[in-house]
Amino acid sequence: MNQEHEPEATRRNASDTESSRASRGWWDSNADEYQSEHGAFLGDDRFVWGPEGLDEADAALLGPAAELKGRRILEIGAGAAQCSRWLAAQGALPVALDISHRQLQHALRIAGGPGEDALGLVEADAGALPFRDGSFDLACSAYGALPFVADPVRVLREVRRVLRPGGRFVFSVSHPIRWAFPDEPGPEGLSVGASYFDRTPYVEQDEAGRAVYVEHHRTLGDRVRDVVAAGFRLEDLVEPEWPEWNTQEWGGWSPLRGRLIPGTAIFVCSAVAP
Ligand SMILES: C[S@@+](CC[C@H](N)C(=O)[O-])C[C@H]1O[C@@H](n2cnc3c(N)ncnc32)[C@H](O)[C@@H]1O
Repeated sequence: MNQEHEPEATRRNASDTESSRASRGWWDSNADEYQSEHGAFLGDDRFVWGPEGLDEADAALLGPAAELKGRRILEIGAGAAQCSRWLAAQGALPVALDISHRQLQHALRIAGGPGEDALGLVEADAGALPFRDGSFDLACSAYGALPFVADPVRVLREVRRVLRPGGRFVFSVSHPIRWAFPDEPGPEGLSVGASYFDRTPYVEQDEAGRAVYVEHHRTLGDRVRDVVAAGFRLEDLVEPEWPEWNTQEWGGWSPLRGRLIPGTAIFVCSAVAP
């Protein structure tokens, strides 16, 4: 990371404000590295749900691709907007939102492709969405925002507010079981090293004790309760299996671990009418 001093990794509480500030700073500083390391795997205009490589073109979790045409779709924590670009190519009207200016600059760098003109980019915090109630038919997020916020119900409520009743929200996060294991792709990542039930956030902090990176842990049950509390019905919980073709490691995600324990949890939710 682009810091003069190596940050210290710890587990401690981090407020919503501190978490958002850390996320903006970390993703602004690390967007170039993230895109150069993972951009080829993500593809400029593919919709990949996580390191297993599950592709929306095959999974159709947002519904059949043929039915996306003309749909207003919000993507939160969009990064360089690769998923939104795939949605635009299906004829949808996506808005890609992210808290990081640098991530969105990468979205501008990958300009071009079918549907490009339909793609909107918005810099904002997912906890305060700058849209009117009921503005979108669908919403999605591939590892965007939700793993990094202290108050996921606030984000989920915001997404629920801007969706029309019945609209679907599909989001992926690290599978909660991962928190019990070290974040290592090799055999050392196969032994339980921490309590699955410990929700204390993972924080990297600078010399002054300021958080520079924060991830928040929720158990599977917490995530289900969060979704319901925000006014969604949980339609499905998808745990993609590691496919034979994928030989690539991504941080602690690897073929070795992927064949034994799930790495990603995808929540398929629909907005209940108020
Ligand atoms: C792991 S990246 C995923 C990006 C993209 N979905 C992908 O698959 O490459 C997480 C993204 O969430 C964004 N993010 C983190 N906290 C956020 C927040 N509170 N509001 C909006 N975006 C946030 C980060 O800036 C980053 O681009």
